[in-house]
Amino acid sequence: MSVLIKNGRIITADADYSADIFIDGETIHTIGKNIPHKADTVIDATDKLIFPGGIDPHVHLDMPFMGTFSSDNYETGTRAALFGGTTTVIDFILQKQGHSLQDALTEWSGRASGNAIGDYSFHMAVTDFNESTKKEIINMVEKEGITSFKTFMAYKGALMIDDRQMIGLMEEVKQRGGMVTVHATNGDMIDYLIAKHRGEGKLSPVYHYLSQPEVTEAEASERFVDMANFTGCPAYIVHLTCEGALNAVRSATKRNQNVFVETCIQYLLLDASLYEQNFDGAKWVMSPPLREKKDQETLWAGINQGIVNIVATDHCPFKWEQKQMGKDDFSKIPNGHPAIENRMELLYSEGVNKGRISLNKYVEVACTNPAKIFGMFPRKGTIAVGYDADIVLFDPKEKHKLSATTHHMNVDYSGYEGWELTGKVKTVLLRGRIAIDKNECLIDRGFGQFIKRKKVSSKI
Ligand code: URP
Ligand code: ZN
Ligand code: ZN
Repeated sequence: MSVLIKNGRIITADADYSADIFIDGETIHTIGKNIPHKADTVIDATDKLIFPGGIDPHVHLDMPFMGTFSSDNYETGTRAALFGGTTTVIDFILQKQGHSLQDALTEWSGRASGNAIGDYSFHMAVTDFNESTKKEIINMVEKEGITSFKTFMAYKGALMIDDRQMIGLMEEVKQRGGMVTVHATNGDMIDYLIAKHRGEGKLSPVYHYLSQPEVTEAEASERFVDMANFTGCPAYIVHLTCEGALNAVRSATKRNQNVFVETCIQYLLLDASLYEQNFDGAKWVMSPPLREKKDQETLWAGINQGIVNIVATDHCPFKWEQKQMGKDDFSKIPNGHPAIENRMELLYSEGVNKGRISLNKYVEVACTNPAKIFGMFPRKGTIAVGYDADIVLFDPKEKHKLSATTHHMNVDYSGYEGWELTGKVKTVLLRGRIAIDKNECLIDRGFGQFIKRKKVSSKI
């Protein structure tokens, strides 16, 4: 099967040029003008931008969490991702405390394999680091191609590890060629504030926000960065939301440390005023919570300064009925927000179209850096001869509205209901196959492959 994409404008993290692309099988065979090869399918990309397939390195599909499961499974989640121009996702395996990493991998592979439509990989969340877990790290890196290890400094009593475990994990992961990533908020402070608010009968969603003030994130980010500096372990902060936390990273750069930073699309675009409505605010109950306008400015600046490296989603959808679990108590609202389908279009419309970031920066933070930081480059994350033909054809002028009535995520509301966007994903290719065209998904459950990742470092 061959495909020729003609007359497009190709945008990568460091280039912007017009050329045709000839795809043979799963990979890009030729990029150039007047390519002489005959193709089975010819796509005219006149007036379209051509991006590498998006990579969302922070999603939670079919995840057991807070007494329920996130509502998108591998089939619905990766399909929705494809509709939005994201061809590869990295999901989080959660080790069960008292159990092995291998057990958790087996459980997650069972959910994903044969079900995913788009490509996927895994981070391993280590929730119980001990002598036995330590021995498993080498196998994860060398054999399984899982090279990033997630930690939680919050969710006390469930997922949180202490600093002793963190240091031990960092030393082992560094030695094996991996990276430690973190949900950096102070679990003890949050636990205290949740109990305090509940004790005072303050139970509405706004108290979720008030239980996780900026200082809880700034403090944990600084502590994490210090531990990474001490151990020399490559380090990455997931879903960073605020000025205080980013300034902890900025301070670390002054001692020549490099820490990778991810923010998520919602922290760039939404703010905490959404919690000032009755239970409706539960739609945006996520951790960390939405912040302030000044934090959005900090995050956009951080992207342009090269300190914020990735824009992800932390896609963790729950249906409205599931959110009702916390109707009478904010601490029981399942934490998470749906965005896997919206990230690329929102970031283009609100970022590029509104002049906040350049086109090249857009590709860098949504496609290329996730591939580089997590060991998939150049197979993924760019448009280059010899590598996967994961390609998005994008109409930069088309206007459309986001709505739960038209999205493909398995969730009955949208965090962006009625938002008018400029710029739309039109056609998506995954490993040379036309996956999305004319608002239809043309590939089936099971097409998605597990992507083994290479060793990583603090340099990209
Ligand atoms: O609210 C969130 N973020 N839910 C998913 C779990 C996590 O902390 O990433
Ligand atoms: Zn988190
Ligand atoms: Zn998450």
